[in-house]
Amino acid sequence: MSNGIIEKLEDVTPTVLRAMSAADDARLRTVMEAFVRHMHAFAREAKLTEAEYDLGLDFLNRIGQATNDSHNEGILFADAIGFSTLVCLMSNGAAGATETAAALLGPFWRANSPRTMNGGSIVRSPTPGPELFVECEVVDVAGKPLANVEVDVWQSSPVGLYENQDATQADMNLRGKLTTDAFGRFSFRSVKPAGYPVPTNGPVGDLLRAQNRHPYRRAHIHFLGFRPGYKTLVTQIFVDDDEHLESDVVFGVTRALVGDYRRHDHGKPPAADVRVPWYSP
Ligand code: BEZ
Ligand code: FE
Repeated sequence: MSNGIIEKLEDVTPTVLRAMSAADDARLRTVMEAFVRHMHAFAREAKLTEAEYDLGLDFLNRIGQATNDSHNEGILFADAIGFSTLVCLMSNGAAGATETAAALLGPFWRANSPRTMNGGSIVRSPTPGPELFVECEVVDVAGKPLANVEVDVWQSSPVGLYENQDATQADMNLRGKLTTDAFGRFSFRSVKPAGYPVPTNGPVGDLLRAQNRHPYRRAHIHFLGFRPGYKTLVTQIFVDDDEHLESDVVFGVTRALVGDYRRHDHGKPPAADVRVPWYSP
């Protein structure tokens, strides 16, 4: 073992680990030690060349440059390599197996969604597409219904655009803030969301193209449930008839999150102005 002066290649990793070992914060020591061990092992395993090292650092720099107040390219990168989903499933709901496991937040959540009555509509400007009636129940880990949970919902339109990407939609269209009733339930009226591409004009887009990967997220509705005293649940429910559920660009589709969007072609619609087909649970 060297004394800090590197005599040979094998000295590098232990010397770096030793230099970092005096950190007061034990968790920082653990995380950074694992990070350095794996980064060094990665360079060795891939036999990283200097040109690839330069390219990788340039990629990281470009991620920083592409990040601003309204877009986080770093999160998009973590999403696109499955890292966000990995960490999310490690930390929530029996590793993704429980009903309504957590899922990534994504960049389209907005604060101050309009308060919406149970059963009310989140369609705030004409939005053509199949109508959708959503009914949900929020329960605690023991299965007990939870009243007074504030739930933000947000989704893309039937052509795959969030309102803040689409000048034809009213501000806050397809977004709402609901509160669960005494039985833990909330419900709202909407239109069926469609899948959409993630932003591809930055370095993550370059990576996807180099890997011959498509940029599409599969159709889903986002939910964020908040009640003081409980861990906030951030999740998504996927549309089960999306034909490409198995290829979500950010690997967000877990089995437990595939919803039940039932199509109705006849029968009594849930409201007088509804045309067939409509979707409901
Ligand atoms: C979303 O679901 O809104 C999303 C998640 C990750 C990247 C881009 C969009
Ligand atoms: Fe989304």
